[in-house]
Amino acid sequence: MTTSAAAPTAFWLAGSPATGADSFDVTSSWDGATVGRVSVPTEEQVESAVAAAAGAQHAFAATPAHVRAAALDHVARRLAERAEEIARLITAENGKPVKWSRGEVGRAVSVFRWAAEEARRFNSGEAQRLDTDPGGVGRLALTRRFPRGPVLGIAPFNFPLNLVAHKVAPAIAAGAPIILKPAPATPLSALVLGEILAETSGLPAGSWSVLPVPNDRMPALVQDPRLPVISFTGSDTVGHQIADSVPRKHVTLELGGNAAAVVLADWSSEQDLEWAAARIATFANYQGGQSCISVQRVIADASVYDALVEKVVEKVRGQVTGDPADDATDVGPLVSEAAAERVGQWVEDAVAKGAKVLTGGVREGASYAPTVLAELPADAILASAEAFGPVLSLHRVNGADEAFAAVNDSRFGLQAGVFTHDLQLAFRAHRELEVGGVIIGDAPSYRADQMPYGGVKDSGSGREGVRYAMDDYTYERVLVLTGLDL
Ligand code: SIN
Repeated sequence: MTTSAAAPTAFWLAGSPATGADSFDVTSSWDGATVGRVSVPTEEQVESAVAAAAGAQHAFAATPAHVRAAALDHVARRLAERAEEIARLITAENGKPVKWSRGEVGRAVSVFRWAAEEARRFNSGEAQRLDTDPGGVGRLALTRRFPRGPVLGIAPFNFPLNLVAHKVAPAIAAGAPIILKPAPATPLSALVLGEILAETSGLPAGSWSVLPVPNDRMPALVQDPRLPVISFTGSDTVGHQIADSVPRKHVTLELGGNAAAVVLADWSSEQDLEWAAARIATFANYQGGQSCISVQRVIADASVYDALVEKVVEKVRGQVTGDPADDATDVGPLVSEAAAERVGQWVEDAVAKGAKVLTGGVREGASYAPTVLAELPADAILASAEAFGPVLSLHRVNGADEAFAAVNDSRFGLQAGVFTHDLQLAFRAHRELEVGGVIIGDAPSYRADQMPYGGVKDSGSGREGVRYAMDDYTYERVLVLTGLDL
């Protein structure tokens, strides 16, 4: 914490800018430069944001759909107008190569646009006749969804804008107040989003706050009974601690993964293998592998394994590493030097236990070279943990049975990619793979922001994706009308 005289960036308390007594620096993991200084809310300011959210809940739920939709449309438009500036900010605070940051801003635009559309559609309700029994004659049930209450959104560092968007936009669309806590490493993008939200009109003041509180003050927010819904994205360890600490709250957990790309025997032409290898190499390493659905395991049929591996290694070597602000860079630094050190230790552990490094395996500061491992032993940390770094491992199998069993041999289950042309195998994969999403003919890292997104097993529970998060933030409440002449 610092108490510098330079004005820190304000946070957003009940829709208005505010500053607290303390502040902290946000630094670039690429060159250590100070990217910004952020003001930290005091305990009293957090209390007033939560009280405002609780106080706004009925007014917000009653806000007309056109008002919420117009606010969401405004955010989409302004994000698009400020896209390059925000992409540069994401790159500076997160270390993500600017080409991926641009993609992230584009996705956030789409999340807010979708949310505006869903706000217009949502909650038209469903009528149900009740005269199916004599006691129900003259009665009609109307079922509509209402917010469970204010939401505590806890966002991760790896998509500092878009995973914030996935919490904030559905809350506004559903009329649920939200307190958003950005990741301490990357709060600036969320604060810019606050700046844009503050330009909107018609949303009740307490309907949204962006509070960069440190992680050690998170438990108090988690425990606060005025925030009955928690939407958390982050590590499985922290996610499970949160869920276990508030068993009576509605908690959505979007946790980690060790996503597999399966290449089956029929995906065997030169063109097939080129495509699979290119997609695997790109999506094992995009944003330094710091995505819950980056490719961590390649499970390939023995008939295509050797040809595929040659191409994967060549394409991984071809990833351009370096300054994330450079348009040509594919892979920049990880979020911190500590993160890169941890990845290095896990690779060393794998090698000590018998794994072979086909390329990579080198750290420089916060950067870790794109790495391919073969013969990864089952007792290596990387065989079961989430790498969250630019490291993939190769596994040879015989046939779809073995391939699908290998995918399921994991405590995680977020998404899987299956390279096959066989429609029957595609449906079988959909049926048998224990994951939240199966992508056919592409890497597991594909995500369209309107799709349901989330996992099973230790990858979490509940779903994001605009409409699905709105369902999560709300519940069905029935209205029975009586004495009707139907
Ligand atoms: C995540 O890391 O879970 C988000 C991936 C994405 O939105 O593409």
